[in-house]
Amino acid sequence: MSKVSKFFLGILIGAASLIITFRIINQAPSQKLHLNDKFRAIIDNSGCSMCHNPNPKLPFYAEWPLFGGNIKKKASNAFSRIDLTIPLRQFDQGDQVDSFALNKIEEVVSNGSMPPFSFTILRPGSAISYKEEEILLEWIERQRSRVELE
Ligand code: HEC
Repeated sequence: MSKVSKFFLGILIGAASLIITFRIINQAPSQKLHLNDKFRAIIDNSGCSMCHNPNPKLPFYAEWPLFGGNIKKKASNAFSRIDLTIPLRQFDQGDQVDSFALNKIEEVVSNGSMPPFSFTILRPGSAISYKEEEILLEWIERQRSRVELE
């Protein structure tokens, strides 16, 4: 194979794998999952813990010029605003989830401000769709009614 055709074959394979990856990450969680698992899948998929974490695990493009600096700055601001590992840990341990955190999450999910726009363009599928928003809000309501029962 000539160098030129190898080059184009490389581009083709690269493009195909990108398209496949984007399709996989852009899907709402399966209908069959339990509400809790759907919630978890959306939170993981939307990169919430990537930024709102004491030790942010940033994607590789955080090292890129241009966008990278922006993401790093966002991640350090994010943690100072809210540490989402706390409510997620409470939930995983079966404890009551802090109602202050629930209110904050409800707010950003309802007004569509999270994840930040600059993050969603580099990570297709991370934006919260209408369907995903409904699932998150239902989960938040469920956590609140649990608090009332106990
Ligand atoms: C790229 C990093 C990043 C990602 C990803 C991200 N956030 Fe944020 N978040 C921020 C920043 C930065 C702020 C501070 C407000 C601002 O500057 O917009 C913030 C603010 C918030 C707040 C408001 C805290 C307050 O005190 O009012 C909540 C709640 C929140 N984010 C939840 C989420 C959830 C839920 C997700 C996932 C769906 C998410 N964030 C994804 C960076 C991020």
